[in-house]
Amino acid sequence: MTDIEALDLKRLFHPNTNLAVLHKSGPFVLARGEGIHVWDDHGNKYIEGMAGLWCTTLGYGDDELAQTAYEQIKTLSFTHLFAGKSHEPAVRLADKLVELAPFAASKVFFGNSGSDGNDTQIKLVWYYHNAIGKPKKKKIISRQKAYHGVTLATAGLTGLAPFHKNFDVPLSFIRHTDCPYYYRNAEPGESEADYATRLAENLEKLILAEDPETIAAFIAEPLMGVGGVLLPPATYFDKIQKVLEKYEILLIDDEVICGFGRTGNLWGAQTFGMKPTTLTAAKALSSAYLPISAVIVPDFLYDPLIEASGQVGLFGHGFTYSGHPVAAAVALKTLQIYEERKLYDHVRRMTPRFQSRLHALAEHPLVGEARGVGLVGACELVKSKETKEAFDAKLAVGAKCMALCQNHGLIVRAIGDAVALCPPYIVTEAQIDDIFDRFARGLDDTLEWANKEKLL
Ligand SMILES: Cc1ncc(COP(=O)(O)O)c(C=O)c1O
Repeated sequence: MTDIEALDLKRLFHPNTNLAVLHKSGPFVLARGEGIHVWDDHGNKYIEGMAGLWCTTLGYGDDELAQTAYEQIKTLSFTHLFAGKSHEPAVRLADKLVELAPFAASKVFFGNSGSDGNDTQIKLVWYYHNAIGKPKKKKIISRQKAYHGVTLATAGLTGLAPFHKNFDVPLSFIRHTDCPYYYRNAEPGESEADYATRLAENLEKLILAEDPETIAAFIAEPLMGVGGVLLPPATYFDKIQKVLEKYEILLIDDEVICGFGRTGNLWGAQTFGMKPTTLTAAKALSSAYLPISAVIVPDFLYDPLIEASGQVGLFGHGFTYSGHPVAAAVALKTLQIYEERKLYDHVRRMTPRFQSRLHALAEHPLVGEARGVGLVGACELVKSKETKEAFDAKLAVGAKCMALCQNHGLIVRAIGDAVALCPPYIVTEAQIDDIFDRFARGLDDTLEWANKEKLL
């Protein structure tokens, strides 16, 4: 163990980590990165097949982004946006985001993370409903297996047990409806369209049971990333949206993973036919070079806040680093780079190769389903392909596969037994082949291990 690894165990409180496993196996310390590659502190080189946490779209060490950050630090390293103070990078970035939004947007509120962006969404929706005289409309419907963050409110929107247990969440205003998980939750012989109809009916039942007058908003990721790269079945958002419209329920689109090209369109909403009221973006917004999130809202949500905040004396929400000038300048440059280097086209050009290599893995004895869109995908590992029987979660088969892929110089992410890939946009066709060759070797090693341990 290196000194830094030992000091890590002594001093660092790791987020989203199995602390029991960490103290047995030690941390995985990365020392540097370049392009799609990173190196650990022992000098081993890896392909970052997850773009960090679905975010480093431009890869590592981009000169233009480094220069932009340097120049903004020299020009104006900080000013805030409270009490009407302003600065050009935040204004220009807001203007660009309104131009790009997949609906008639008007204003942009900046934060520092996807979690605080979604937290802001909840507060905005409440403030708005209070301002328009509908104070009963407070509940937010999310979905099982959703991931919307980890703040006190958004951890509850997240529909995954480890984010609730021992934390005493969800808070009382949150409800969960079905997650669209066709592979596991469709009835035998049920078509995608019939499955989507059933989920929309279940949503309506939940709304009626709760009283529609109490439901403010529905929040959804276009595809569910942390839930296991779950794609909505055909016609899903069409049918869900009809229910939302019927009961005047707002649709918050969480584009934290999908936004800025990941699914092959600028927004996941466009890929899956969502018609959002409002949207949260983060991650690819700055290619994760600096922390920044954006909540993009239409006029009708913003306008009532003018008078309401006047009566209170303040719109009392915002962070010291809301629209931080260096983060805003880097985000603006990131969006320029996507356009100048034609990266949205590049993602679309790389998609067929990525998806055909991904889907070919469905033939592997361990893979129950290979699913994905654009430059994101996952293989769900199962004990039996025929019955779809899952492995006992305690065996941590996905985590084993992740470790074995790492032995082949590829970083993937295990989400339970779904193993995800989400490479930087700058990946080439040859690198995609390299990624899947390594992934296949990691899967073969996992199969060999599973056989040896008599798990099959
Ligand atoms: C869809 C989605 N929303 C929100 C978040 C939370 O973002 P952050 O970790 O920046 O708080 C994530 C993080 O992965 C996410 O995938």
